[in-house]
Amino acid sequence: MTQDKLIQLLAELSIDEKINQMIQIIGQIYEKGAMVTGPASQYGINEENIRLAGSVLGSLGAKKLIKIQDDYMEQHPHHIPMIFMADIINGYRTIFPIPLAQGCTFNPDLVKEGAAVAAKESAAAGLHVTFSPMVDLARDARWGRVMESNGEDTYLSSCLAKAMVEGYQGKSVKEKGKIAACVKHFAGYGAPTAGRDYNNVELSERTFKEDYLPAYKAAIDAGSELVMTSFNTINRIPSTGNKELMREILRQEMGFTGVLISDWGAVQELISHGIAEDNNEAARLSIEAGVDIDMMSMIYCNRLKRLLEEGIITEQMIDECVMRILQLKNKLGLFENPYKDADAEEEKRLILCEEHRSLSRKLAAETFVLLTNEDGILPLPSEGKKIAFIGPYIACKRIHGSWSLFANQEDSVSIKEAVEGSGYLNHCLYERGCDLLEPGIEIPEFGEVFAKSVLTEEERQELLYSAVAAAKESEAVVLAIGEHPSQSGEAASKADITVARHQIELLKEIWKVNHNIIIVLFNGRPLDIRELCQYSKAILVAWLPGTEGGNAIVDVLFGKVNPSGKLAMTFPYSVGQIPVFYNEFATGRSYEEGDRTRFHSRYLDIPNKPLFPFGYGLSYTEFEYSGVELDKNIMSDNQTINAVVEVKNVGRYRGKEVVQLYIQDVKGNVVRPVRELKSFQKISLQPGESKKIIFSMNRDMLKFYQQDMRYEVEAGLFRIYIGGDSTTKNVAEFHYR
Ligand code: BGC
Repeated sequence: MTQDKLIQLLAELSIDEKINQMIQIIGQIYEKGAMVTGPASQYGINEENIRLAGSVLGSLGAKKLIKIQDDYMEQHPHHIPMIFMADIINGYRTIFPIPLAQGCTFNPDLVKEGAAVAAKESAAAGLHVTFSPMVDLARDARWGRVMESNGEDTYLSSCLAKAMVEGYQGKSVKEKGKIAACVKHFAGYGAPTAGRDYNNVELSERTFKEDYLPAYKAAIDAGSELVMTSFNTINRIPSTGNKELMREILRQEMGFTGVLISDWGAVQELISHGIAEDNNEAARLSIEAGVDIDMMSMIYCNRLKRLLEEGIITEQMIDECVMRILQLKNKLGLFENPYKDADAEEEKRLILCEEHRSLSRKLAAETFVLLTNEDGILPLPSEGKKIAFIGPYIACKRIHGSWSLFANQEDSVSIKEAVEGSGYLNHCLYERGCDLLEPGIEIPEFGEVFAKSVLTEEERQELLYSAVAAAKESEAVVLAIGEHPSQSGEAASKADITVARHQIELLKEIWKVNHNIIIVLFNGRPLDIRELCQYSKAILVAWLPGTEGGNAIVDVLFGKVNPSGKLAMTFPYSVGQIPVFYNEFATGRSYEEGDRTRFHSRYLDIPNKPLFPFGYGLSYTEFEYSGVELDKNIMSDNQTINAVVEVKNVGRYRGKEVVQLYIQDVKGNVVRPVRELKSFQKISLQPGESKKIIFSMNRDMLKFYQQDMRYEVEAGLFRIYIGGDSTTKNVAEFHYR
């Protein structure tokens, strides 16, 4: 449709029709035949809303959505199609590893492929928009939603934000198999005070702009069609009602022209925040901020008309929002083809097809991070040894992270199934060892359902006894333990981030009879794993790996794939260090580990150093780095400096290495981070092979918010570090003049 026709269409809409374009309701209501009962009345949705709502969320399936679209359009006075949106975070039916795990690949191309598959499957199932990528910078492992982020680093998150948007949207969202991206949660949602979900955020303007905003900007620059507001406050103003944040920063400074949608119920939450007196004020603040769609609070549809009649808002404000929504529909091509790619046959053909499964397996294996590997216990030989596979995750098929809303756990491959299918070993024992959840612990899941252990004390003892017996008669033990999938995700903050006590007890009992323990850790966040390190020889972090998790784990355990994941988020020594991240700031009293004098920035009871730093991860092979060489020592204006290192595979296996470049601005007019990731390259080397890696550095990489908040470079000394993790000491220096 041409812009002129869109303008004409807008002019033909009644005010009620316009306002209803600006609401989003749950698709479930249409699935039930548009009856205003159950969830509809519970949420205050009336028949008019059902007839006119501009978009719905949470429903998928080609057949179903085609029918909903048909019925809806037929009765809509202008036959405007609705938009179908949903949270396709880890994939639709072929589930990929959680985004935090994907961050550990340091492989934007692969992440982009994963997003493209998620788009393909969900587009065939009728979807138009996914509420992804979530690019909230996450530095506090207590926060349950770190699993949805790409970790703690601004640069890495930005690269992956771009990759995901490109994967979902392709060159145009109209293309077959593409969906629109919605970057979220704007802004700063990843820094809730004390790691408690939905809590307020206190960030300095400089930290907010320099560290937190760039990943959203990267998604917007990549063309993300939508942005979602966040639940939190910034500068004590909740985002959804924050005019300066949305109109000045998002739209003017960042140049975002697409649709801004509130998070679920966030318009109404302005009242709970204490910034709006009532629904009228909540509606006014949100529309003044330029929020186009009210997701599920039903305040826009109940209040905007009255505000308009009272002259508090103008029709132009409403038109501005509705036009953006119509433009999105137009970009998706819905006026010509309201079903877009919905096609039941195609959906059936695509979901969980071999190609998608094999990408999921490849991506999962690349997300795993090998933290320890004493005596080179891994990889395991594929024959000869007798191995006990123990733990609640060995036969578990629920190995996908939160937000895998359409996953069917029966589709996923457990470790046990993968070992059995691999034909590797003929002497294996399988034991559950214990339940995933500690006795007495209940984890809320969706609705009123709670996950909990239902074993009796006697059954627990029996599981433990058989596990120890199996460990005793085996040469090595693969112990698969960790967090329950519902222990991370939204509303899953934790104050204690150790592994459950009963799992540690199982570990210790096994250790008594067999020291050859390889832990495969399932987790949605960095954990305090000090005890795991003490009672094992190897730890492989598998996160929540998705549909092909078991196969990917077996690929890595037996060396078919050499692990290459690097931590996208620091593993703290203990919860007391949090927030802990590699690019902290120099202090006036910095502490060198081992110094015995008192007045330093340090803890009395724990080290400053985390257990495993950002960027860290072992391989079955070893890489040797040459010193860093620069082609000049002075950079001025628009010049570039090339930094070169030679990386050699000096081990026995082919392997991939993430070569990381960090820059330190030694002196600035504001305090600068001790170092910052500015580039990386992932390379693959055969044993004995070496490669020269060249990084080209320019002045943009040196910019920061100056004392007067100009984003600029300051002349002076810079150090660059190139190595295999964020603690590398491989350094060279140059000056910027
Ligand atoms: C979450 C969003 C999500 C939305 C819709 C909210 O609770 O914060 O990330 O996209 O629900 O499901």
